Amino acid sequence: MEGFKIRKMEEADVCEVLEIENEHIGKTNKQTILDTLANDVLSYYVLEKDNHVIGFYELSIISPEAELFDIAVSKNFQGKGFGKILMQSVIETCKQSAINTIFLEVNSINKKAICLYEQFGFKPYAERKNYYGENLNAILMKKQM
Ligand SMILES: CC(C)(COP(=O)(O)OP(=O)(O)OC[C@H]1O[C@@H](n2cnc3c(N)ncnc32)[C@H](O)[C@@H]1OP(=O)(O)O)[C@@H](O)C(=O)NCCC(=O)NCCS
Repeated sequence: MEGFKIRKMEEADVCEVLEIENEHIGKTNKQTILDTLANDVLSYYVLEKDNHVIGFYELSIISPEAELFDIAVSKNFQGKGFGKILMQSVIETCKQSAINTIFLEVNSINKKAICLYEQFGFKPYAERKNYYGENLNAILMKKQM
């Protein structure tokens, strides 16, 4: 796969990031994403292809721990390996910050994401019952580096 790069989000990317977020959760707004540009702990990284953002991840780093708050690929580009490319970048970013554990939380019905996380060595360690609604549990996963 060619013609893409992953880099830290810039102000000009915010609208495209918001669009992708809205495709799957829509819990955020432009200002919330913009605010992360001035945040030392929380950062967005974007996957750019042909001058467009087609995916991103949102990572908080409080060394020696990190938390992956979100990862998403634009609908039209899903199933082509970009999720894996983003996850590789998550791991690489964490290595550079000497992280020893990465945490995340995922909806138990999100089998695609769970499969992806398992492939990268994340293991479930706790569950929050009905966190997302009736019978929609949150699964907490972590990866030891
Ligand atoms: C989860 C997500 C980021 C995966 O991105 P993607 O680009 O579609 O994933 P890839 O093509 O790189 O596939 C990576 C792995 O995901 C899993 N996967 C992908 N499509 C799948 C499907 N239809 N069913 C089950 N697993 C699937 C597989 O483990 C796959 O690895 P494999 O191809 O070696 O089997 C993407 O589906 C997405 O943006 N979903 C909406 C946002 C979201 O739910 N994010 C997680 C929040 S916790």
